[in-house]
Amino acid sequence: MSNFFNNKVVAITGGSDGIGKALIDALMPLGAKIATCGRNQGKLYDLQLKYSNQHLHTVVCDVSNYNDCKNFIESTIKVYDGIDILINNAGVSMRSMVKDVEIDVIKKVMDINFMVRCIVLNLHYPLL
Ligand SMILES: NC(=O)c1ccc[n+]([C@@H]2O[C@H](COP(=O)([O-])OP(=O)(O)OC[C@H]3O[C@@H](n4cnc5c(N)ncnc54)[C@H](OP(=O)(O)O)[C@@H]3O)[C@@H](O)[C@H]2O)c1
Repeated sequence: MSNFFNNKVVAITGGSDGIGKALIDALMPLGAKIATCGRNQGKLYDLQLKYSNQHLHTVVCDVSNYNDCKNFIESTIKVYDGIDILINNAGVSMRSMVKDVEIDVIKKVMDINFMVRCIVLNLHYPLL
């Protein structure tokens, strides 16, 4: 298992915080080449400083924006010549009963948690 990730290109959406960042911290010592994205440039910059001499490609990207997703996937392919593992991590959560929530909130959750994953996969598949 420890050799499995060596030189594997792993693209993780939302890697500047939380679970995505923890994945980067876990995979980097195993030799993975990582690409990640997030909306906040400062958080990505801090990550770059932390892993300055290692394989880390970061892209400012709002995954709810199609062109941002396209740029993330295409620039990762350009830098690493492919993607071996795609982790669609960036997302939002909603902690309330459907009866109590505004429809726009449900739409946002579906757009980001469902549609974005379809879009990123759709962009990624032809490049495999
Ligand atoms: N933590 C939990 O208990 C839990 C439970 C169930 C499911 N999840 C799911 O697991 C995933 C990660 O959760 P987490 O707790 O690690 O979240 P988190 O700590 O809030 O981190 C989210 C990461 O995603 C990025 N991000 C958020 N919205 C984005 C967007 N529109 N475009 C690009 N990047 C975006 C954030 O960076 P920026 O803010 O800079 O964009 C950050 O790097 C989410 O999909 C969440 O719904 C988490």
